[in-house]
Amino acid sequence: MCGIVGYIGSQNSAPILIDGLKRLEYRGYDSAGLGIYCENRLNVVKAKGKVSVLEAKAEESKIQGTIGIGHTRWATHGIPNEINAHPHFSSDETILLVHNGIIENYAILKDFLIGKGYHFKSETDTEVLANLIDFYYKENNDLLEAVRKALLRVDGTYGIAVISKKEPDKIVVAKNGSPLVIGLGENENFVASDVNALIAHTKKVIYLEDNEIGYVTKDSYLIKSLDNATLNKEISEVDMDLEELSKGGYPHYMLKEIMEQPESLANTFRGRYIEEEGIAKLGGLFGYEERILNSNRIIISACGTSWHAALVGEYLFEQYAGIPVEVEYASEFRYRNPILSKNDTVIFISQSGETADTLAALKEAKRKGALTVGIVNVVGSSIARASDTGVYIHAGPEIGVASTKAFTSQVMTLALITLLLARMKNMSLEEGKEIIQAIQELPAKVQEILNHNSFIKKVAEKLSDAKNFLYLGRGIHFPVALEGALKLKEISYIHAEGYPAAEMKHGPIALIDENMPSVFIAPKDAIYDKVLNNIEEVKARNGQVLAIADKDDDQIDKLADYSIKIPRTHDMLMPILTVIPLQLLAYHIAVKKGLNVDQPRNLAKSVTVE
Ligand code: AGP
Ligand code: GLU
Repeated sequence: MCGIVGYIGSQNSAPILIDGLKRLEYRGYDSAGLGIYCENRLNVVKAKGKVSVLEAKAEESKIQGTIGIGHTRWATHGIPNEINAHPHFSSDETILLVHNGIIENYAILKDFLIGKGYHFKSETDTEVLANLIDFYYKENNDLLEAVRKALLRVDGTYGIAVISKKEPDKIVVAKNGSPLVIGLGENENFVASDVNALIAHTKKVIYLEDNEIGYVTKDSYLIKSLDNATLNKEISEVDMDLEELSKGGYPHYMLKEIMEQPESLANTFRGRYIEEEGIAKLGGLFGYEERILNSNRIIISACGTSWHAALVGEYLFEQYAGIPVEVEYASEFRYRNPILSKNDTVIFISQSGETADTLAALKEAKRKGALTVGIVNVVGSSIARASDTGVYIHAGPEIGVASTKAFTSQVMTLALITLLLARMKNMSLEEGKEIIQAIQELPAKVQEILNHNSFIKKVAEKLSDAKNFLYLGRGIHFPVALEGALKLKEISYIHAEGYPAAEMKHGPIALIDENMPSVFIAPKDAIYDKVLNNIEEVKARNGQVLAIADKDDDQIDKLADYSIKIPRTHDMLMPILTVIPLQLLAYHIAVKKGLNVDQPRNLAKSVTVE
């Protein structure tokens, strides 16, 4: 999920790799490392934290050589520390590997390799791949072929760069689901996960596609398909400049992260279901399923956006698994002396895994003997470590202060947990399978909404002068209304309130006039007609209405001033679709107002104080 850079030529690679890693820093990472070949040895320097720390260590160690690979890691398997940082050696230090992505079947492969006498130093999935490559390398000393054979046994995503001390004239690369690009220079060549890292040296690049593998030497390259056919790839010219590239081509991290959601969602669910059985498969919950299912009470606790995801979770657990759930603000929970016992389960949701209130609530729940389950993005974070068990959401680094892709991945994770528990109870095989199919089709539907970005921008610009907004939704979309309102408040500093649509007439309706837009989340579900009535009520008072509605809903166009149309999915996953226009709406309103979208005033990305 993070950054790769590699160099082969006649210059000292160390400063080139460090410079490349610095240009990848915008992606976010937790540790970094370099591996360089010199005089029959592969030397490695790694550091936890910033690339500048790695740079100082590299200078001190005087590491140098004309072929090398570097990496910034965003941990998925094993906490961020020096041992787990890349590059990873094979057991006998012949091969060195950097990897972005996740090897899903790493546990099976690891057992196989242990049986063959391999040993492991780190907790990563990546080290398993390094040894698997070595296993095949021992057969015929052909690095490209060994990597190819190893990858044929791998399930998961990867962008990789590999070097061997026995073939110090090439870097082998491959890609599946994680980007990899080759940069062509004069008597020197480069590899990277992102053109950013190359652009200072060359604009001539070759983009690898999924299931492609190849190598670069200092003056040649070869690219094959994973099934061993030689490919003739097109050389492209990069026409973006450095400024544009620094946030992956987007003006703000927030927009980048909104746009990444088809991919981040796929990373959340990939490898986490058994299609034929219509059930989810979550390694982190293995062995805890019965205990969770038989709990006296299930409580979900979190703050901010993660708390909104918890509210969606409550709905999912109750509706589909028939399990009663309570949702609590972590800040309230920790001071309320909650009544808990060892027969209860408390689920904590946190993007950062460092939110002080959530961590304190977790400690309190543990002290009282409840089972604690973390749903966390940052691997190895305090909440992930302190929970008894948990599920990582694998959304990738989220840098914009306003949480976007983490929310949709949290909801996806809750949907997977629901599917697991519901299938253990009453849900039919057929419905389980339907949900899995809907999950698989979701990234394309998210993309369909993102393609309406310029339309949403126009709507946002029309509404950007309003001083107050109401966000209204019912059922599972009430938390989405809260989340839409929070996004707007956080980055545009416009006052916004989220309400269950039917509650409007019990108070907020008094606020409605032509200056106060109401955003309705109105997909065609069981309570659609009721939401239409609420829209009528707003229109009768001259309020402006923006509706988030199904794409085949023409009826709503007659009522609403603006409507943003979205595709349908299984009801359980609808909040993932309805929230996306609201993220973009808030974003474009804040941009129109000239505000600092990524670092809004008074807010921090992770709130580590009370
Ligand atoms: C979301 O946009 C906010 N910045 C904030 O509400 C956030 O969700 C909250 O602080 C919880 O953070 P966490 O998920 O990292 O625990
Ligand atoms: N899965 C690998 C790890 O945890 C790679 C993570 C990344 O993409 O940075 O080390």
